Amino acid sequence: MDNTATINIGDKSFTYPIITGTENENAVDLRKLRAETGYITFDEGYGNTGSCESSITYIDGEKGILRNRGYSIEDLAKNSTFLETSYLIIYGELPTETELRAFKSKISSNAVIHTNMHTTFDGLSANARPMAILSSMLNVLGCYYPQMASNNREQDLEFFDDAAALLISKVRTIAAMAYRKEVGLPFVHPREDLRYAENFLHMMFSEPYKLFEDKAGLADALDLFLLLHADHEQNCSTSTVRMVASSGANLFASVAAGVCALWGPLHGGANAAVVRMLQQIHASGDDGKKFIEEAKAGKAKLMGFGHRVYKNYDPRAKIIGETVDKVLGKLGVSDPLLDIAHNLEEAALNDEYFIERKLYPNVDFYSGIILKAAGIPVDMFTVMFAIGRLPGWIANWKEIASNTQSRIHRPRQIYTGPNLRNYVPLAER
Ligand code: ACO
Repeated sequence: MDNTATINIGDKSFTYPIITGTENENAVDLRKLRAETGYITFDEGYGNTGSCESSITYIDGEKGILRNRGYSIEDLAKNSTFLETSYLIIYGELPTETELRAFKSKISSNAVIHTNMHTTFDGLSANARPMAILSSMLNVLGCYYPQMASNNREQDLEFFDDAAALLISKVRTIAAMAYRKEVGLPFVHPREDLRYAENFLHMMFSEPYKLFEDKAGLADALDLFLLLHADHEQNCSTSTVRMVASSGANLFASVAAGVCALWGPLHGGANAAVVRMLQQIHASGDDGKKFIEEAKAGKAKLMGFGHRVYKNYDPRAKIIGETVDKVLGKLGVSDPLLDIAHNLEEAALNDEYFIERKLYPNVDFYSGIILKAAGIPVDMFTVMFAIGRLPGWIANWKEIASNTQSRIHRPRQIYTGPNLRNYVPLAER
């Protein structure tokens, strides 16, 4: 097969190479298009645009496939842990026993944050939203490690291993502190003897007179939740991290920007939006059927359904959907919201509107129910997503920072404003 594509503009033809990925996905390489033709590609929302080459994550949205560094998400969910998968995503290979021990030890010994940062917390408004706190505090964190956040590529890469471990560790502490600040409770110090998710639950829920006890295996469910979110190719927040990194910005600033992009309800905010939607449906006495009709009529959106890339089941939704029942069973609680979620899922999967548009549950559809069962307040859900996605952002930052050929990201536009006008003095307007 000819490995080129030809574009005809007027009476001229232009030929461009086709590049192929390791899973045989093809792209027309249009990097020289504007220089050769004066035209640009127009792809609002980037649905057809490959913004980079990456060796981190592979997704086939039509088939519902997700692989991190070549390992299927099902395999990792069954056999790995969040920290091991984080190592894999960041460094490209599964760690040896020694490497994993060293990585974990760096993470567990770095959980405490500088006491001066407590003063920064004190200065925040009592109404500060947890995602705003998280983003701000990740940038503040960089101020305490200026050698790692220098905006000098070579230097930032030299300190990369320390910066990555430090961020993965301290993001939990910051998240738990944001929660404790919101509810007016004193901060709880991290413990080195606890596993990653266990330590987070301890910082969230322990009291000086009563340590948090994980009787129902919530830490394992949380670890799985984090693992499932660890990386997901060029989504809105990861692309934001890469965009910021492309200017030469340091890792701390880049991931802080990722948090802001994740905040919106069409992205990471969807897990909280799902639970709010289920609560509303429950309060209205609907079992889900009426809501489905409203979604079809365009009066509502079925949050947790649909995906820009998946036109099939999001594989993470399947795994988390199976875990929900187990977690609630272990806790010995039933949640009416889960029944409504099951009803909505069944109704949507059998309805022509959703079938035609290939709308399936995404990872957020059931994850909120798990987080709710773990006692995490709804406005902290997106923060949990951010903790999970951090290794992916870090790996993407590293990929772009280590690429000596990478250029600043700077898309073009089609201008639709007025043509040249003369300034009109105020008195004449
Ligand atoms: N409920 C009802 N209808 C929907 C939904 C939904 N959740 N999602 C898409 N549609 C409809 C659209 O109205 C549109 O219908 P039309 O063709 O009649 O106009 C069609 O399906 C295509 O939808 P688009 O908006 O073009 O899909 P897009 O790829 O731009 O958006 C998105 C994807 C943002 C995820 C969208 O499906 C959505 O808003 N879902 C709900 C929010 C959500 O769950 N977000 C989490 C995404 S996963 C993640 O970030 C981890």
